[in-house]
Amino acid sequence: MKKAVPAAGLALAAAAALAFAATAHGQDASPVADPSITAYSHAEDMVTARILQMVEIEALQLRMEAYAAGAEDDPDLMRSLAYSVSSLMLAVPHLFPSTTNFMELPHSEDVSTVALPAIWQDFETFYALAIGVSDVALETAQAEDEATLKAGIAAIRQGCDACHASFMQAYAPPIPPL
Ligand code: HEC
Repeated sequence: MKKAVPAAGLALAAAAALAFAATAHGQDASPVADPSITAYSHAEDMVTARILQMVEIEALQLRMEAYAAGAEDDPDLMRSLAYSVSSLMLAVPHLFPSTTNFMELPHSEDVSTVALPAIWQDFETFYALAIGVSDVALETAQAEDEATLKAGIAAIRQGCDACHASFMQAYAPPIPPL
């Protein structure tokens, strides 16, 4: 004859099984114990890194846009700047793991981000936009004549704007009190 298991005992066993499953799952992915998985070990630093990366990309892009608008500059240097933008953009999506969704996740007061949660609802689109801009910048770096080079510089900016429109919170200037 089977021994009846009291209900409370069953509940405890179920809770223990759940706890074990959670631990086992965590160990499978081993995300927290390994300090080199920076999405977990240094998530807040990633925000600083990606913002500085964006600011650097912006500086390169502005220099190219001044040239495209008619400023005297060296076309070969512009090609080299476009190549730098291409390389930097290639790394960008890797600085956006879901652990850095700090508009939704708890974080320290020092962290300030305008990266929208939409990134992690549609990460493949976000990723493709970054790679797309990287590709356009690489083509721009190989432009054979100045007209193509200038058109490429404009096309890069369209890629920046497309991603920002969907995935970056627009800056809204504070409304001054009346
Ligand atoms: C794949 C999407 C994507 C692309 C492509 C992209 N950006 Fe960004 N950019 C972002 C996101 C998201 C942020 C907000 C990051 C944050 O606050 O954590 C941002 C932030 C910025 C910032 C603001 C940094 C600050 O001061 O807070 C600048 C400037 C910028 N990007 C420039 C550019 C330029 C120039 C390009 C094109 C060469 C570009 N970005 C391409 C997604 C993108």
